[in-house]
Amino acid sequence: MIIAIDGPAASGKGTLARRLAAHYGLHHLDTGLTYRAVAAALLARGLPLGDEAVAVATARNLDLSRLDRDVLSAHEIGEAASRIAVLPGLREELVQLQRRFAMEPPGAVLDGRDIGTVVCPDADVKLFATASPRERAKRRTTELEAKGKPADFDKVLADLERRDQRDANRTVAPLKAAEDAHLLDTSEMDIETAFKAAVDIVDSVYAE
Ligand code: C5P
Repeated sequence: MIIAIDGPAASGKGTLARRLAAHYGLHHLDTGLTYRAVAAALLARGLPLGDEAVAVATARNLDLSRLDRDVLSAHEIGEAASRIAVLPGLREELVQLQRRFAMEPPGAVLDGRDIGTVVCPDADVKLFATASPRERAKRRTTELEAKGKPADFDKVLADLERRDQRDANRTVAPLKAAEDAHLLDTSEMDIETAFKAAVDIVDSVYAE
């Protein structure tokens, strides 16, 4: 069983993916962390973000069991991740890694930008989570404040919109909903409501 969840930054897809994986007893991979881990390794070694061969070599050494969300969630790592995510060779390498993860029994929930379109086009269920940019910026600001990192709402909003722009407009695997994805607009939902809506969608696909 493979569940693909795509959507823009702070759309709620990560939390949904984690909770769905726990609910259905599946593995979970936040594919954003794979791009972030490569970006973090390049930044740590002072290597250029535009060098495809170096990025590919770094990706080959990635260990999916050692992705540290706390370290990788840093803002500058997210920015760098979205810059290297335009490199086609790097994407190919990471997609292979992600597909291998998805094939492990009993199956997995993967979340990202291109899971339903590129990584797992045959996923059993595809969800595309969205929320208005203002709502997403509000969530991100609250999240940062909870971590003791006061954030300016307008700056968070501008950052999100810039990253959406870059992710949606790149030529390789841009952020977009697969044609057969179920849209889940979480703007007006708290996480519990969004989770129940997602479970309803997954269960209804399985009841067919
Ligand atoms: O989801 P997250 O914010 O961790 O992703 C960081 C960046 O990695 C995104 O802005 C996007 O550019 C890239 N990414 C991607 N494809 C994925 C997951 C993330 O291009 N499947």
